[in-house]
Order: sequence, then C-alpha cells, then structure tokens
Amino acid sequence: MRHGTLKSGVIGWPIDHSLSPRLYGFWMREHGINGVYHAIAVETNALPALLKTLADEGYVGLNVTVPHKEAVMAHLDEITDQARWIGAVNTIVIDEKAHLRGSNTDGFGFIENLKGGHPGFSAASGPAVVLGAGGAARAIVAALIDGGAPSITLANRTRARADQIADDLGGPVRVVDWAARNAALKDVALLVNTTTLGMAGKAALDISLDALPTEALVNDIVYVPLETPLLGAAKARGNAVVDGLGMLLHQGRPGFATFFGVDPKVTDDLRRYVLSGTG
Ligand code: ATR
Repeated sequence: MRHGTLKSGVIGWPIDHSLSPRLYGFWMREHGINGVYHAIAVETNALPALLKTLADEGYVGLNVTVPHKEAVMAHLDEITDQARWIGAVNTIVIDEKAHLRGSNTDGFGFIENLKGGHPGFSAASGPAVVLGAGGAARAIVAALIDGGAPSITLANRTRARADQIADDLGGPVRVVDWAARNAALKDVALLVNTTTLGMAGKAALDISLDALPTEALVNDIVYVPLETPLLGAAKARGNAVVDGLGMLLHQGRPGFATFFGVDPKVTDDLRRYVLSGTG
C-alpha cells in the first residue's frame, strides 16, 4: 500500500454523467481513505498519453467507462484472462512501478447484484434469456457461462451483434431472432434486459411475459427509473425482480478493494446516495 494521498479516478468521454465519483466518494468517506477520485474526460486519441501521465503521477487505479472499455486494452501492460475473454476492461490497477493491469468487474457486479437482491441466486439453477448485445450483454453472458448457466439464449434487434458474442464467448449460448424473444421465455429461470429500452426518456421494452414461468427471476440493467416497465410488469404477474442499480455498485467493489485495501459494502444508504446523483 502506498502512502500519502491516493489518487484515482474514472476515464470516459463524456464523463459528466458518471456515477462512479459518487460511488467511490461515498466509500472513501465511509472508510476514512486519504484519497482523491477524479472524473477525467478523455478522447480516444488522447488515451495513451493520459494513461502514461496518470501512472507517472502515482495514480493507484482507474475505472473505465464508455467509450473506452475496448480501446484502453491496447495501452495496458497486463490484462486478466477474463477481461481478454470478454473483450473489455473496466478497471485498471496501477502499481508502484507504473505497471497497468486491466480487469473487468462488470460480470462480478451483475452476479453480486442478483445474489444481493435475490438471496440464493445461482446462475447454474436454470436457463437464462439475455436481451441485447452491447458491451454490458457481453460481460453478463460471460458471467452466466462462468456461473454454470445450463443454457443462455441471446436475442438482439441486430442479430449479427448477438452472433458475434456467441462466437467470441463460446459456452452454451444460443442466438435467436429479436422477433422470437417472447417464445424464448418458456422454461426460463432468469430474464435479463441489457438493452437501453425502458430507460427514462426511451421507449419501454416491447415484450410479452406470458410464456415466462412465474418462478423466473427478472433483472434489468437499466436503473433510471429503478422500476422499469419490464420490472413492473414482471412484479405484477408474481415474478421476483432485481433492479439494475446494484450492478453498478457491486462492479466498483473489486477496484476499490485493490486501490485502497478495503472491500466496501453495498448498503441502502449507498443506494440512496448514488441514486440522488441521477436526477
Ligand atoms: P453498449 O454501450 O453497452 O455497448 P449499446 O450499443 O448502447 O450498448 O447497446 C444498447 C443495446 O440496446 C443494443 O443491444 C441495442 O440493439 P442493437 O444492437 O440492435 O442496436 C439495444 N437497443 C437500443 N434501442 C433499441 C430498440 N429500439 N429496439 C431494440 N433494441 C434496442
């Protein structure tokens, strides 16, 4: 562990809407960490120089958000096998020798959120359907494969992106057309929305839950609003639901633990504090 004020931050473009400064700020105050956490706006072409500067300045670590999770990989000294497999890095740990090590904690955040919101959750307990095929879907499908999901059905409006994830990740992933999403819900134990549909200001996800067993767990990675139309509809027919905020909060834990030496907790106070930054 280094001494003095520990420097850290999040890099992205734009960065104004990132909730990571609130998340890390809350935990730093809670644990009395002598540190700073900066929101750093950087364009892709300036990434290599910025990373070098921050490493030379003694930064202990960085979180990485859109659009840099893939681009940053070319400028690191080391990448965990899991991040390489997923094809994206969201956390960079910087050691005393300015060595940059990239990892991906989004899948961890996803699984921990489901365990926190639905005690006893296990990916291995049944088939999953994942809607969407962006960066978040990639980390989530990887986490479900790692967790032993017996089958993962992936549906995306642009089918080619789902096919690409299935090709890249392997595992028990089956791609179906977007039009087949309703029928795919039969006998499923977990339904996850990773599309942006249902987010405040966007259209609701257009889906019929009629075929979904009422024992299935439903999760949305959208967290503004916390109860999306999908989660509202699922709840109304008796399904257990977990909202998306916890994925953001839990994905920050491994980075915080490595940067500052404390594994922080996700609590209701933290949820309220971070949410108050979404208005
Ligand atoms: P990321 O930033 O995580 O990489 P993204 O590209 O913003 O993700 O992906 C958003 C997801 O929402 C995609 O799966 C996108 O589908 P496409 O791949 O077809 O673009 C999905 N999405 C966005 N708007 C949608 C809509 N109106 N209907 C269906 N899916 C939609």
